[in-house]
Amino acid sequence: MKIFIDTANIDEIKEAFSWGFVDGITTNPSLIKKAITHYKDKGQDITLENYVKNLLVTAGKGHSVSLEVIGNTEDTMYEEGKLLFKKFNGIAQNVVIKIPVNPETSENGTHNFDGLKAIKKLSADGIPVNCTLIMTPSQALLAAKAGARYVSPFAGRIDDYLRFQNEIPFTKSDYYPKDGLVVNDKILHDNTIVSGVSLVQSIVDIFKNYDFATEIIAASIRNATQAQELAETGADIATIPFPVLKEMIFHHKTKEGMEKFTDDTVEEYKNIFE
Ligand code: E4P
Repeated sequence: MKIFIDTANIDEIKEAFSWGFVDGITTNPSLIKKAITHYKDKGQDITLENYVKNLLVTAGKGHSVSLEVIGNTEDTMYEEGKLLFKKFNGIAQNVVIKIPVNPETSENGTHNFDGLKAIKKLSADGIPVNCTLIMTPSQALLAAKAGARYVSPFAGRIDDYLRFQNEIPFTKSDYYPKDGLVVNDKILHDNTIVSGVSLVQSIVDIFKNYDFATEIIAASIRNATQAQELAETGADIATIPFPVLKEMIFHHKTKEGMEKFTDDTVEEYKNIFE
């Protein structure tokens, strides 16, 4: 399984890459806003174009960086995707264009399929696409058919949705059981999907049936337990926020064991390393 870092914060990215196991970066407009606001609040003078270049160089060749379009029609997304790729891919040959699976923002609009149309065109031009905001297995299937290089199911947001719909209070990092929550003898579900992990599992199962080349990026990950359960699904990639990556390395008994080994080290053994 590849591990991406889900942030646009350059300090987090640099530190995470120094750990030796990070394979790529995913960003979105909200993550860019959070990062830019953070640095501007600290008084740093940032131009977004240079900032993005820095992200790409930090990731380096062979480590993909997803950059999202902001339009919501076939033409705007296609043109923006081409522009982002042309402007930035020369720097480290690692740009992936993020396109929402369904860019329509009104209830009965006319742009429901524009994401797929843009994916089809960008992929035909040889531009790799990460299809984002996937909330159902069917969306993932359609995106793969349209030629997406990656699909990003949002596990955490499905768990949020199930809780929200059923008025269950929660905080963002709370664990949600992968096999679903039973309330009043009924399992909560969104059209048979009982959790974010089950959404990813369903997509993994569908893609195996048809041997799609599209890779699955498990996204919107909220805690280390969910990251572990997503790894069990066989998803190709997990994109994980910085605090969750840090949570994944920690265990009290490991720390305790380290302390004991350090205490027990005899002088003769230390001398070997002199
Ligand atoms: C993935 O590509 C998205 O940027 C991200 O995982 C969304 O996570 P969130 O639901 O925590 O905002």
